[in-house]
Amino acid sequence: MFQILSRVAAVAGLVVVPLALFSGTAEETKKSSAPARTPDCVYVGTPHDVIDEMVEQAAIKKGDLVYDLGCGDARILIAAAKRHGCRCVGYDINPVRIEEATERIKKNNVAEFVKLEQEDIFTLDLKDADVIMLYLLPKMNEKLIPQLEKLKPGARIVTHDYSIKGIVHEKTLSVPSLEDGVNHEIYVYKAPLKKES
Ligand SMILES: C[S@@+](CC[C@H](N)C(=O)[O-])C[C@H]1O[C@@H](n2cnc3c(N)ncnc32)[C@H](O)[C@@H]1O
Repeated sequence: MFQILSRVAAVAGLVVVPLALFSGTAEETKKSSAPARTPDCVYVGTPHDVIDEMVEQAAIKKGDLVYDLGCGDARILIAAAKRHGCRCVGYDINPVRIEEATERIKKNNVAEFVKLEQEDIFTLDLKDADVIMLYLLPKMNEKLIPQLEKLKPGARIVTHDYSIKGIVHEKTLSVPSLEDGVNHEIYVYKAPLKKES
């Protein structure tokens, strides 16, 4: 239970976990221009072994368009592009994350596949996406529902740790991560979204 609370707190920017890991650091302030507005959660990267399972569960096909809303350093999209050669777009409101993601994409030689946009995810039109990846706070997932309802039939949504409240998932699984020693929940949804009755 503490681990779950720690991760909610981490994404929310609270101080249950070591501050230097998850809150804005002096170095971050130094490097960046400020985001257009305050991000709705802080950055916490998904462990790589959890990413492998998210990519697997998304059933990505070559040619699919994959979005990560709040992409951080773009690690999910880099893994998806390397494995499937799919087209990916990462959105993040924080220019520091966009800068890190740009470097990481270059280092991994996937610039041909992974593009980045510094945008507020709540302004996006998602109708072209085949797959949406989410690692956001529960309230953010819920706020995205009107946009997710416009996904084309058959599009998949894969969320890390937090479900989309009020929406029926196709599948859920628990992934023990060797990277952080914690069990991570993954939820899979398919468009059109089905509301809980
Ligand atoms: C918990 S991190 C997840 C990073 C990445 N998806 C992963 O799983 O490794 C959430 C990210 O969402 C970004 N974010 C928060 N509010 C946002 C908003 N309104 N629009 C775009 N990005 C946002 C943060 O800057 C942060 O990088």
